[in-house]
Amino acid sequence: MKQISQLLKIITESKSNNSTFRQFIERNYADAPENVRTRYENLLKIHRRTFGDQPAAIIRAPGRIELLGGHTDYNGCPVIPMAIDKDIVVAASKRTDRKIVIQSVEPRFPKREFIIERQISSFPAGDWGNYVKAAVQGLVDHYGQKNHPTKTFAGFNLTVSGNIPAAAGLSSSSALVVVSALTFLHINSLQFKKLALAQLLAQAEKYVGTQGGGMDQTISLLGRANQVLKIEFNPYAITEIPLPPDFQIVAAHSLVYAPKTESAMDKYNRRAIECRLATALINHYFKRTFQREFQILLIGDLTEEKTGLADKEILGHCQTALIEKIYTYQTVAGILELDIAAVQQKYCLRRDQSVFPEPADGFKLYARFYHIFTEWKRVLMAAGKLTEGNLIEFGRLMNESQASSRDNYELSIPEIDQLVSLSRKNGSLAARLSGAGFGGITLHLMRKSQTQQFIEQLRDEYYRGSAQTLLPNREAWHDFIFTCQSADGAGVVLD
Ligand code: GLA
Repeated sequence: MKQISQLLKIITESKSNNSTFRQFIERNYADAPENVRTRYENLLKIHRRTFGDQPAAIIRAPGRIELLGGHTDYNGCPVIPMAIDKDIVVAASKRTDRKIVIQSVEPRFPKREFIIERQISSFPAGDWGNYVKAAVQGLVDHYGQKNHPTKTFAGFNLTVSGNIPAAAGLSSSSALVVVSALTFLHINSLQFKKLALAQLLAQAEKYVGTQGGGMDQTISLLGRANQVLKIEFNPYAITEIPLPPDFQIVAAHSLVYAPKTESAMDKYNRRAIECRLATALINHYFKRTFQREFQILLIGDLTEEKTGLADKEILGHCQTALIEKIYTYQTVAGILELDIAAVQQKYCLRRDQSVFPEPADGFKLYARFYHIFTEWKRVLMAAGKLTEGNLIEFGRLMNESQASSRDNYELSIPEIDQLVSLSRKNGSLAARLSGAGFGGITLHLMRKSQTQQFIEQLRDEYYRGSAQTLLPNREAWHDFIFTCQSADGAGVVLD
């Protein structure tokens, strides 16, 4: 690792020479190179001001957009995300003890510190430091299983600069988990294969309480500039799909925040629990109907290979297996021939071991299952359409996904519905919510040439029109609608 002053020199010199850092900026950011350099310089200067002119590394992890595959990942079904040019960049320096000290360039994130130990207790729910702790705890657990003594790990000082809007569905939290894990590994000179690390971190992030899947960590680590990924989880596999030349995605924020650590967490976890209950009932039904074990543990296990049935037949059976419109703990337990407590323990616990309360409107098992099963098939079709460069068909599948996310999975909100309909009226090929839902951004598939006009129209109709009261100030609309450039996955930028 080089002294901070040396790193600053490399950045300054990249203005006039064709260095690796200059190429990195050009490949990964749509923003003017000057602005990117200033951001990196600022980060290093703040790091130096607090921690002194030590050797340091710069490490970065990008946010992502989910083009298709809403809530499929934790069901073992595929998804198509893209890493974007909004990211978290950190400066990190090794310490001589086991302490981790984290500060942000933004004062609204207060300084935090903790010790690397076998069991790291969390900060209060919602604290930003928990994402760093999640990564470190995950790695400590991993190395602990290999009898690596926790006492020998070195801690680090970390300064964080992020420009992924929080609670927007762009996965700022996973980017922080990923960048923290890479820092821990780099500081301790440990090697890890990216795919294995993605799997580890998908589990590790559950530390903060959300029962998510593996999309966010995988795309943040393995994304590639000019590509989207099709990620399969059952088994894990990655396919890169080059972006068609005319392809452009505009992200437009609904101006409604959906922080995953607050009420949106229970809404998200409810969907995960409903899918687990649906799968348990389907597995039970298949066993009874066909008098043999199928081991359907995830919706993604409902393949032709496993069941010997075509998709249409699988759907028909699942419709019979999940015949009720809504379920209660009692009806599920009755069918599975288990106690209610056993069902709750097996499928419905939060991270703190409390039982998830039965929703007032009941568990909607068929609707949730139907969304996931059809979304899975849409993702497979969409991967083919994108490979052929067929934006019209890709867009049609995005629109279908939005309808199913709204009607079957109930992820949409009136503001998102409104943005989607304004978008289609103003010439997008498709529009859908992205990520967990319940607020945050919407994605708009465009042809490049029409993008500018489209942004101006949404500005007038949504940000200066109906949703103006939700804007923090009149001029702020610009921060809430932007084009998404693809970017490379996470890694060490300079050291
Ligand atoms: C969140 C989760 C992901 C995924 C999406 C919805 O971003 O972190 O794992 O489930 O929601 O597709």
